[in-house]
Amino acid sequence: MKAVVYEKYGFPDILELKELPRPEPGSDQVLIKVLAASVNKADWHLLTGDPFPVRLMAGLTKPKNKVLGADVVGVVERIGSNVTQFKIGDEVYGDLSGTGFGAFAEYALTNENQLAQKPSNLTYEQTAALPMAAITALQGLRDKGKIREDDEVLINGASGGVGGFAIQVAKAFGAQVTAVCSTDKMCAASEQGADLVIDYKRVDFIKGDKQYDLVFDVIGNHGISDLSKILKPKGRYVTCAFSMSLALLGPWYKVRQGKQFINLMASNSSSDLKTIARLAEEGCITPRIQRVYTLDDVPEALQYMANGGMEGKLVVTI
Ligand SMILES: NC(=O)c1ccc[n+]([C@@H]2O[C@H](COP(=O)([O-])OP(=O)(O)OC[C@H]3O[C@@H](n4cnc5c(N)ncnc54)[C@H](OP(=O)(O)O)[C@@H]3O)[C@@H](O)[C@H]2O)c1
Repeated sequence: MKAVVYEKYGFPDILELKELPRPEPGSDQVLIKVLAASVNKADWHLLTGDPFPVRLMAGLTKPKNKVLGADVVGVVERIGSNVTQFKIGDEVYGDLSGTGFGAFAEYALTNENQLAQKPSNLTYEQTAALPMAAITALQGLRDKGKIREDDEVLINGASGGVGGFAIQVAKAFGAQVTAVCSTDKMCAASEQGADLVIDYKRVDFIKGDKQYDLVFDVIGNHGISDLSKILKPKGRYVTCAFSMSLALLGPWYKVRQGKQFINLMASNSSSDLKTIARLAEEGCITPRIQRVYTLDDVPEALQYMANGGMEGKLVVTI
């Protein structure tokens, strides 16, 4: 099978399109014929081995797994003897980050608990845009942020992969959403359902008097004392941009002010994939695709993402 392979840490120019043996599923595994994948920051961290703690899991001096790609959609090609949820020919989607990545290839392996049936109303490309980014938004808002109907929610970094889904998920929960993004992406944020949009290039949301029940932050560019001022009493702040000061000072703010500061580490699950598929089928979530690439162009896609200024997701068709 064709796969985009890397043997050492580096930048996109070290990626090579190679022939690899097609993997065989173990007893709990599903072999997927990949139809589309998408690009995430996690792929970049694994490619570069940066930040360094990534290497503690991915391989100290060189990567243990040679093929990147977490988000996957495809058709079940073969199943292991213990697999009960899927049969050959099922259209499935999921996130391979918990089982060694590998979506930038013609075939990929994972466990059945990392997959769900593809949403019936979306294309393969749209479906590939969903898993990691939409699950991060869902877990950040619902599980960590305890979002409730009519909550006033601010989403910082609302124009990228995670932020775009966060607007849509928050609206699906009946929240009032303020989106923070750059000038040229304000329309896109409104189209995705934001009730109010703040242009961060002109206004610093931290300086206003407005307070929120919940702040979901994809960027993490403000300090905890500033953030506490824009939270209502018992307000929640959740970030997917890990912050050490939050981890250290968050408990103190909880005791003193009753406000919660939470670092999110999202993880894939079959049940959350099913929830996302249901939200897509109900029309609550529509992925926004910025560009579509082929397998040969994966290095270009990764570089494009790393350059910044994303407006939705980059998808790879196989
Ligand atoms: N913890 C977890 O489990 C988890 C899971 C998934 C992702 N993540 C992390 O979440 C972050 C975002 O991921 P993503 O896929 O959404 O990235 P992305 O697609 O690159 O989106 C980032 C967005 O933020 C905007 N932006 C940049 N600077 C900003 C600022 N100062 N204020 C407001 N918006 C700004 C960018 O557009 P402009 O530059 O045009 O403004 C871009 O649209 C990454 O750091 C990723 O590693 C964490």
